[in-house]
Amino acid sequence: MAVVGAATDGLAKVAARRPPGPGTEAAPPLPLEAAPETLFECLAVAAEHKDNETGRHNRRIGLYAKVVANALGWSRERQAVIEIAATLHDIGKIGIPDNILFKPGDLTEAEKLVMQRHTTIGYTILSAARDPLLACAASIAQYHHEQWCGGGYPHGLTGRDIPVEARVTTICDVYDALRSERPYKSPLSHQDALAIILTGDGRTHTSHFDPEMLAVMPDVEASFERIFAVMTGT
Ligand SMILES: [Fe+2]
Ligand SMILES: [Fe+2]
Repeated sequence: MAVVGAATDGLAKVAARRPPGPGTEAAPPLPLEAAPETLFECLAVAAEHKDNETGRHNRRIGLYAKVVANALGWSRERQAVIEIAATLHDIGKIGIPDNILFKPGDLTEAEKLVMQRHTTIGYTILSAARDPLLACAASIAQYHHEQWCGGGYPHGLTGRDIPVEARVTTICDVYDALRSERPYKSPLSHQDALAIILTGDGRTHTSHFDPEMLAVMPDVEASFERIFAVMTGT
């Protein structure tokens, strides 16, 4: 379960940086080079304050993305980058009005357009600083709802015009959404979610995904199931 432990290490570091309580000593200052990583953790915590379920979803996506990156043969460093960057893919939801973000029923077409802005809001938040890790996170935030076939948003990009980190995140995001309870749907089992990704249904089509990501799903699905179980306590 090392993959889950790696994600929770970050939260432990943030907790260690909180102001000390009565009778405790302040944590020693972190070195300056730890600042970007700490900033990411702060942003993840900010997302959890807005919407706890979105925050938990974000953390699961980072873990799945690392597993996919490993299956794709990416370097350890690149796996570590996408694990952190994908965790912030939905950070833009902090800019979506509560009456839309938490609406219990179906969204109107106008509300859907507002909700879709979480991609560009996330990009705006994360592109405010020049840092390679933030640049990757900004790209994922902006493009994770694009689809391989061109039917996604916000730009309708196709195929390899969509950054590969976003293509990894997309399939992770859809898996987790299928597994999760939403106001408009019941949660699906692992096998049902996997079957929809691999064969499609009325709403999800295999054409949405990079064929390379579909090809590694049989190698990663057991890890996906384990991550969801551990992170949701189910
Ligand atoms: Fe999203
Ligand atoms: Fe998401």
